[in-house]
Amino acid sequence: MKIKTVEFVKSSSVIEECPEGIKNEFAFIGRSNVGKSSLINMLMQRKELAKISGRPGKTQLINHFEVNQDWYLVDLPGYGYAKTSKKNRAVFQKMITTYIKERPNLINTFVLVDSRHDPQKIDIEFMEWCGMEGIPFSIVFTKIDKLGSSALMKQLTKYKKKLMQHWEELPPLFMTSAEGRTGREELLRYIDTVHQSISPSMYVKDKEAFWEGGEQAPTE
Ligand code: GTP
Ligand code: MG
Repeated sequence: MKIKTVEFVKSSSVIEECPEGIKNEFAFIGRSNVGKSSLINMLMQRKELAKISGRPGKTQLINHFEVNQDWYLVDLPGYGYAKTSKKNRAVFQKMITTYIKERPNLINTFVLVDSRHDPQKIDIEFMEWCGMEGIPFSIVFTKIDKLGSSALMKQLTKYKKKLMQHWEELPPLFMTSAEGRTGREELLRYIDTVHQSISPSMYVKDKEAFWEGGEQAPTE
């Protein structure tokens, strides 16, 4: 997919403030400092579109960007940021989970994990939660420039093994580096495929019920 235009739309602290949910939307989530904002800038080939920082906790709101005047890309705050107050953490958590659960046009969530780290409890729990809520997600390994190819393969194997304890089928998994601009084509191609396969008339309000074959079938 060619990125022709990308514009910052707005930052929101609650779902009610988000732009009207009438266009396909892709969100990027993961622990603080995992590289969400950097990956977005790399994908969009814009250095300072999303704000980046070496200090965790940089992104604090739900940030909407509109791509090709056709779909939304969303930069979210990190979860599990230890250096903030308990109250702040709870506020972030609520903001993120409500947004993910209730945003009808959110058609895929990319869960970012740092390729250097072993599977972390908080990430696995988040993916489990997505599964329970019927939230479609994919996994993105970040910062692969920091690992040699054999170390990377080792981490990948470890991760897959861990996931197989929880899932029968693995979600799509991507290898990326914002620094080395790796994985851009693959991710954009995947976004394009999902984007082309879903239209607004297919949005479902109750995602969990939908995936369980519940009442709210798509209207198309
Ligand atoms: P929060 O907004 O705080 O949740 O963080 P974030 O997940 O958006 O991370 P961000 O993109 O701000 O990057 C955090 C740090 O990791 C920055 O210092 C980046 O320069 C660095 N970083 C991000 N991606 C890469 C990468 O692919 N390779 C390397 N080497 N460093 C990276
Ligand atoms: Mg960020």
